[in-house]
Amino acid sequence: MKMKIVIAAAMLAAGLSVHAQTIIKFSHVVAADTPKGKASEFFAKKAAELTKGKVKVEVYANSALYKDKEEMEALQMGSVQMLAPSLAKFGPLGVKEFEAFDLPFIFDDRTELHKITQGPVGAALLTKLESRGIKGLAYWDNGFKSFSANSPLKTVADYKGKKYRIQSSKVLEEEIRAVGGIPQVIAFGETYQALQTGVVDGTENPPSNFYTQKMHEVQKHLSLTNHGYLGYAVIVNKKFWEALPADVRTPLMQAMNEATTYANQIAQEENDKALASVKASGKTTIYTPTAEERLALKKAMAPVHTKMADRVGKDTLQQIYQATGFDPSKL
Ligand code: LMR
Repeated sequence: MKMKIVIAAAMLAAGLSVHAQTIIKFSHVVAADTPKGKASEFFAKKAAELTKGKVKVEVYANSALYKDKEEMEALQMGSVQMLAPSLAKFGPLGVKEFEAFDLPFIFDDRTELHKITQGPVGAALLTKLESRGIKGLAYWDNGFKSFSANSPLKTVADYKGKKYRIQSSKVLEEEIRAVGGIPQVIAFGETYQALQTGVVDGTENPPSNFYTQKMHEVQKHLSLTNHGYLGYAVIVNKKFWEALPADVRTPLMQAMNEATTYANQIAQEENDKALASVKASGKTTIYTPTAEERLALKKAMAPVHTKMADRVGKDTLQQIYQATGFDPSKL
């Protein structure tokens, strides 16, 4: 008894709560040394600090706990409390609108992207998760994807007949079909092996994922197409979140806001560094498509917008076009 009081007094003196600590398991599939990996660690630190130790965030990187599909199920079941899946992975959950982010060439740059992720369209999309028992807290940036393969990818014809690993998005399936490729959905954690063993010929990813998963060891060519965006929604189990007392939830949200600012600050730089490392490795030939080659790719992929408009929701799509100025019919 005496001992307990001494410990409690010591904890109080250290500014820590004597109540049981809330554990948040935060699972993700990428390396620790990526925009998402770093931002989740930043969040864990901030959460401990701002809740004065009432919350401990345990980050599990690199699919250590779950792969893509399993982690969504684990979140809904409450086996983990927090995830940051790519926006391309919400389709299987039945929230297809997020696949609008996968539409080829829809964002020219981060400024356009942020009009959506930091504006009313992005906020409205997050509320669609609630009926699935999920609360969306924030969007974290990663970057623009480039295609890779074991043979050069310059003209549209070069893409034809190759098998590409994609994330579980119908829009991405159509994007690959639009250039005559064969899409194959494979978990992120199994991609390196699929490339290594030749199950697929190529893939698409931002440089940060490409480099940290060592894809440069098993892909001879990387074409800097920047044809699509890959980023994240940070999500929590809704019941868990709503059951948190306000004096925990408020500082936790503050920690999330600070982590979001941090994530979006480092994302470009992390991708630049990763690309420089791929270059330095000398294992992958990096090609920058000419303006004509990139335009040809854009034109070849433009029909995906019309084809998938019903799936992602015409209203959502119009709102994005309005904010960004993209018009596929003008291509
Ligand atoms: C992928 O599967 O390629 C990405 O979604 C991985 C990630 O989380 O960045």
